[in-house]
Amino acid sequence: MQIRDTSDGYGIVSRLFHWLMALAIVAMFALGLWMVGLDYYSPYYHSAPSLHKSVGIVLLIALALRFGWRLSSVKPDEEDLTPFERSAARLVHWGFYPLLLALLVSGYLISTADGRPIEVFGLFSVPSPGENKGLEDTAGAVHTWLSYAVIALAAVHAAAAIKHHVFDGGRSLSRMWSGPRKI
Ligand code: HEM
Ligand code: HEM
Repeated sequence: MQIRDTSDGYGIVSRLFHWLMALAIVAMFALGLWMVGLDYYSPYYHSAPSLHKSVGIVLLIALALRFGWRLSSVKPDEEDLTPFERSAARLVHWGFYPLLLALLVSGYLISTADGRPIEVFGLFSVPSPGENKGLEDTAGAVHTWLSYAVIALAAVHAAAAIKHHVFDGGRSLSRMWSGPRKI
């Protein structure tokens, strides 16, 4: 099994990071929208936000690890993309990192604005930077907008990947799904 990325495709580490994080991000979006509509008497009133925050902190750690892995890996060749597609893909791929970082940090700031730490799956806790009452609303609005931006970008990104695979016969999706070809 190919661990590292090669010029012909993504290795198993990059592929697991990509697909597991994509799944978690879409699930977190749905969970976020659903949980803010729960009323106080719902059995999930406390557990749903607690799950959302715990997964969010795990995603923050995963994003940092993934970024380090990306920087220390070779980039698979994109000779099947036009110069325009290559620049657009680069912009979108690198754009995800700051957007996701801002989304995760805004979530952290909403959750810790009352001065309380975040308990991550009851395993460890992430401290609050200190009580800051007004911050909750601002960070909440930023968090909501950023979550829509990330999902919109992911939709465009997925549509481009599928179009490239189905209509242009390109290898982008294969590079990210099955990895390098065996030579
Ligand atoms: C991929 C990451 C994430 C996504 C896609 C996401 C998405 C969402 C969405 C869609 C909402 C509902 C917004 C609304 O309609 O008002 C929400 C709310 C919330 N999220 Fe996240 N979130 C993420 C990460 C995090 C993280 C890391 C934390 C904290 C550690 C967090 C804490 C919260 C809290 C506390 C709310 C409730 C805010 C309120 O009551 O208005 N989220 N999130
Ligand atoms: C929230 C969801 C997603 C995020 C945040 C995301 C992010 C990224 C990032 C940052 C890269 C560049 C490689 C890296 O740094 O790891 C990438 C590559 C890729 N993604 Fe996604 N992605 C998401 C969902 C999807 C979906 C749903 C598809 C397909 C249906 C897809 C298909 C691809 C492909 C084919 C590549 C490789 C492009 C190439 O190198 O030619 N992604 N993605």
